[in-house]
Amino acid sequence: MSEGKPPAQQKGRFNPGGRAIRFYGVSKLFNAPTTGPISAVNAIDLDIPAHQFVAVVGPSGCGKSTLLRLADGLITPDQGEVTIGGHPPVPGPDIGLVFQNFRLIPWRSVADNVAFALQGQGLSQSEIGLRTAAHLEQVGLLRWGAHYPAQLSGGMRQRVALARALVGQPDVLLMDEPFASLDAQTRELMQEDLLALWERQRPTVLFVTHSVDEALLLADRVIVMSAGSILEDIRVDLPRPRRPEVARQTAEFSTLRGQIWTRIRDLVLSDPNSGFFGRDAL
Ligand SMILES: Nc1ncnc2c1ncn2[C@@H]1O[C@H](COP(=O)(O)OP(=O)(O)OP(=O)(O)O)[C@@H](O)[C@H]1O
Ligand SMILES: [Mg+2]
Repeated sequence: MSEGKPPAQQKGRFNPGGRAIRFYGVSKLFNAPTTGPISAVNAIDLDIPAHQFVAVVGPSGCGKSTLLRLADGLITPDQGEVTIGGHPPVPGPDIGLVFQNFRLIPWRSVADNVAFALQGQGLSQSEIGLRTAAHLEQVGLLRWGAHYPAQLSGGMRQRVALARALVGQPDVLLMDEPFASLDAQTRELMQEDLLALWERQRPTVLFVTHSVDEALLLADRVIVMSAGSILEDIRVDLPRPRRPEVARQTAEFSTLRGQIWTRIRDLVLSDPNSGFFGRDAL
């Protein structure tokens, strides 16, 4: 439904038809002085329908973050085209972004960090306050609104970053290893939170992770990347709403896990730059 409208006309609405993310023959080259040109993303075609949750896995340096930054419009392709809802991406509140290192503003309180994402949208201060409080409550941090990022644990900061990404009720959520620096139990709790939030708002999600388990627990589809290309595109038909502890017990989970992990392991062992090159199978 929103496919045909430019992003500026879509502000302020609550996740209507959702928006698809599309890559048409997209390539991105980086020039580095020591290595020469690097083809970070190479002729990628990828069609992500509205509301789908897609995880991207693959060895370090294979182009996952570049793919995400292309989808946000932070960088532009050298060849091909990226569209969100039929239009080139424009960074802003319509696209929620969560990075591994949180990127919170240290001199703003927790509540102000979240509210910042709502500035410039023509909302009243009371509306901004209400939405901010609702999203802090969603991530269990309502009581921490007046604190500053430095006073929070890593897991709490990551939840602030999640609230900030979601407060604009984006149709599209781009997440680059958002839980990588969290301890194991916080990570599992955050995965459950994200699943619950996704069930409620149904944004289209592109989620980069190094964890095959995390990809399978969260996503409808897992993309395996290698050297700038898509190697595999695997459908995950585990039931929704998904409970991680239930999903882990299924035969499909272990089969897919084995399949994807073997593929990634082979890629890493055959990559001369990986540091594991040539290591024999144990
Ligand atoms: N701004 C840049 N300038 C030069 N080279 C870059 C730049 N950004 C990325 N690259 C190169 O592009 C390739 C892909 O990088 P990218 O960050 O997308 O990989 P990644 O899959 O996200 O890796 P990781 O899992 O380690 O985060 C790498 O070889 C990287 O060195
Ligand atoms: Mg990366």
